Amino acid sequence: MNEMLNVALPKGRLGEKAYDLFERAGYDCPELREVNRRLTFENEEKGVRYFWVKPSDVAIYVERGAADIGVAGRDILLEYAPDVYELLDLGIGNCRMCVAGPKNLRDDHTGVLRVATKFPNIARRFYAGRSREIDVIHLNGSIELAPILGLSDVIVDIVETGKTLAENGLCVLEEIEPVSARLIANKAHYKFKGAAVDTLRERLFGVVNA
Ligand code: PRP
Repeated sequence: MNEMLNVALPKGRLGEKAYDLFERAGYDCPELREVNRRLTFENEEKGVRYFWVKPSDVAIYVERGAADIGVAGRDILLEYAPDVYELLDLGIGNCRMCVAGPKNLRDDHTGVLRVATKFPNIARRFYAGRSREIDVIHLNGSIELAPILGLSDVIVDIVETGKTLAENGLCVLEEIEPVSARLIANKAHYKFKGAAVDTLRERLFGVVNA
């Protein structure tokens, strides 16, 4: 019997790129490109079912087994540390987790540094490693506004092209870690769907490294 693989894809540009890789690896699902608002798609013949989920939720779907595998940014894996297998670097969604702030910022290491971010755990870990006391301001988007309006001293955020920073008069102060999209798998499901997951991983590996 052809066992269906349930795949959580991050809705948006990264998900489109990820689906391109799956398609080239032989796991196409033509409807996915045609229908706009639907969230689930399947191609029984290819043994695959896709779900569009919010990018930051992919790891939750996979960790809890609602999806067997998924595509999640390394930023999300670092932030939430989900209990999943990380199977492959897909080489897409390449960016950097950085500390950024005003060009002229000089941290004299006195007082508490105010850090605005969507990634409080990454920020806390980074500054704990340097024994720097910080006040984390947890925001959900438009992080670059925080230092401009005096809400924070710096931000911890992903930088892709650097355009958002440049257009807001900010710059990278320090790089924390490179980030890219990863193929992840549910640990328990990997035990009974391991063969199908391994085949998919090998095919994707071939496409990514072509
Ligand atoms: C991300 C990130 C930066 C921007 C970086 O934001 O938080 O703001 O992209 O990209 P760049 O270096 O190419 O300019 P996103 O687009 O996810 O929007 P958000 O502000 O709602 O989080």
